[in-house]
Amino acid sequence: MQAPPRILIVCFSRSGTTRRLADRLAAILPADCEGIRERGDPRRRRGIRGFVRSLADVIAQRRADVVPTAYDLARYDIVVVGTPVWASCPSTPVATWLADHRNQLRHVAFFCSLGGRGSDKAFERMRASAGVSPLATCAVTAADVQSGHDHALLDAFAHKIRHRLSTLETIEWTM
Ligand SMILES: Cc1cc2nc3c(=O)[nH]c(=O)nc-3n(C[C@H](O)[C@H](O)[C@H](O)COP(=O)(O)O)c2cc1C
Repeated sequence: MQAPPRILIVCFSRSGTTRRLADRLAAILPADCEGIRERGDPRRRRGIRGFVRSLADVIAQRRADVVPTAYDLARYDIVVVGTPVWASCPSTPVATWLADHRNQLRHVAFFCSLGGRGSDKAFERMRASAGVSPLATCAVTAADVQSGHDHALLDAFAHKIRHRLSTLETIEWTM
């Protein structure tokens, strides 16, 4: 019998939506879950000034000063990375985290929360930063959250991750 996959979720969230999705996904999969944190004053991304700063950071493709992840990535079969969409891109802390860890990522899956537009471009940027294609992606809009459709999206995402991992494990066993 195959052992259950070891899954880690890492995510950044400015205003809480992506983090709530991450926590729900961690309960469904199940998975360990860690927030990507920036060094310095956490208030620098809050409010209207934080919005403008975040927009400027992502447009200028600046790096964030990200606290190292506490979990050992080598212990996991897959890392699921979650981000809010900023100007059709992954948030600056997530783009930085992916670039910094690209050599440690074997399998990945991506999810994002967004107002409504830009998830495809954001996922493509995440793929380029990670240097590896995701086994699954999931975009959750504000309308999905409002209608409760986010639950079904996360269930389907979790199912796809588990299914793809088990297919890969079977292939690796037969090689
Ligand atoms: C700087 C900035 C840029 C954004 N750009 C987009 C965008 O291009 N498309 C979109 O649909 N939503 C955009 N949003 C909305 C967020 O993606 C959305 O509110 C998200 O769910 C916030 O997640 P969070 O609560 O985890 O921070 C943007 C928000 C911010 C702060």
